[in-house]
Amino acid sequence: MTIAFPPGFLWGAATAAYQIEGAATEDGRTPSIWDTFSHTPGRTVGGDTGDVACDHYHRFRDDVKLMADLGLRSYRFSLSWPRIQPRGSGPASQRGLDFYRGLVDELLDNGIEPWVTLYHWDLPQELEDAGGWPARDTALRFADYAALAHEALGDRVRFWTTFNEPWCSAFLGYGSGVHAPGRTDGAEAVRAAHHLLLGHGLALRSVGQAGITLNLYAVSPASQAPADVDAARRIDGLANRFFLDPLLRGAYPADVVSDLADVTDMSHVRDGDLAIISTPPAMLGVNYYSRHVVAGGGASSSGATSWPGSGDVRFVTRGVPVTDMNWEIDAPGLVETLTRLRDEYPAVPLYVTENGAAFVDAVVDGEVVDPDRVAYFDAHLRACHQAITAGVPLRGYFAWSLMDNFEWAWGYTKRFGLIHVDYATQLRTPKSSARWYAEVIRRNGLAA
Ligand code: NOJ
Repeated sequence: MTIAFPPGFLWGAATAAYQIEGAATEDGRTPSIWDTFSHTPGRTVGGDTGDVACDHYHRFRDDVKLMADLGLRSYRFSLSWPRIQPRGSGPASQRGLDFYRGLVDELLDNGIEPWVTLYHWDLPQELEDAGGWPARDTALRFADYAALAHEALGDRVRFWTTFNEPWCSAFLGYGSGVHAPGRTDGAEAVRAAHHLLLGHGLALRSVGQAGITLNLYAVSPASQAPADVDAARRIDGLANRFFLDPLLRGAYPADVVSDLADVTDMSHVRDGDLAIISTPPAMLGVNYYSRHVVAGGGASSSGATSWPGSGDVRFVTRGVPVTDMNWEIDAPGLVETLTRLRDEYPAVPLYVTENGAAFVDAVVDGEVVDPDRVAYFDAHLRACHQAITAGVPLRGYFAWSLMDNFEWAWGYTKRFGLIHVDYATQLRTPKSSARWYAEVIRRNGLAA
């Protein structure tokens, strides 16, 4: 018996440029904010950087072979803006484009559909120096870069997304500062969010059929006490609705704007911006990992926070099993997230563009046996199937990640891969989860 997925369901795995490519100074690539940040002492665990990462820049042909062995139908990867347009504006670098042309051709030759993310967090440093995402001009620069990239690859790549997880770029990059560029100003974080959304809308004009990937969470109150219920409203507002509403409904959620009144008057939003932002996307990508459970009545957050305007919210742990990121494992939250999109927003094709888990893996006798990761994928794929059965237009699923890689501020300490990477030798070892996933793809479903 098989829990069957719809014919043509797009099975894939995902990565991002800075997390795997390495070759940080090669072929004309300039520094991005993540190069600067990771090279700043104290910013990443162990001072880890993406200088070499998985050396995918030199090994991509072998990596595509591993994808083919897995039977992947699609591979989601991001383009490095500073590789393609080293100054963040002006002409494209042919050497940068050649790398991606080579990768795309290799994928197509292996029957793997390329899925491009234009921006997975590596802003050219020169644009950060000119103001970064809090500056409106960065949105215009992004639209130009998107046009360059689409011109070069649009004949071969059918799936395009503008941004990966703009919440993280805005609120971790400019709010709490735990991500590059490491600024800590709530008002700047909100401005950054708007300019990321604006950049998305402007880019849709040049790229045509494209979507965006959001990191969405199930959010629930720790209890039915009014303060907890209100805390859940506020966190759902900032994490989910502050992005979904402008994109799909053409307006910022009024309650969140009012929560943010002490932080910003939103005067950076100009007439016409929301019409641009709400240009209907071709698809919505959902990155789902966990649930936020929140309570009211904690200490008021001030200064460096990912949640400006959220007042006295506390994040609560329930004692349920967690991954190595300490994120609670909550597959029902994925059903909740997907059905909520169906119920509350205009219909748009959905893809789970990331889902996966970090666990401590060990190579023993040349093998990595990772039953916890298999269980995580299995539970979340059952959730996807349940959502599809309930009528959610879910068209594909991408495991995060194809291989272990640079996990941002956590450096190389967290392993999310289907394929294990030994960073000293660059040896790749498919984990038992990789073999399991290959079988899921082969049968287009799960064993019942
Ligand atoms: C979100 C991001 O898109 C990706 O870069 C990151 O590695 C994973 N999720 C895991 O945190």
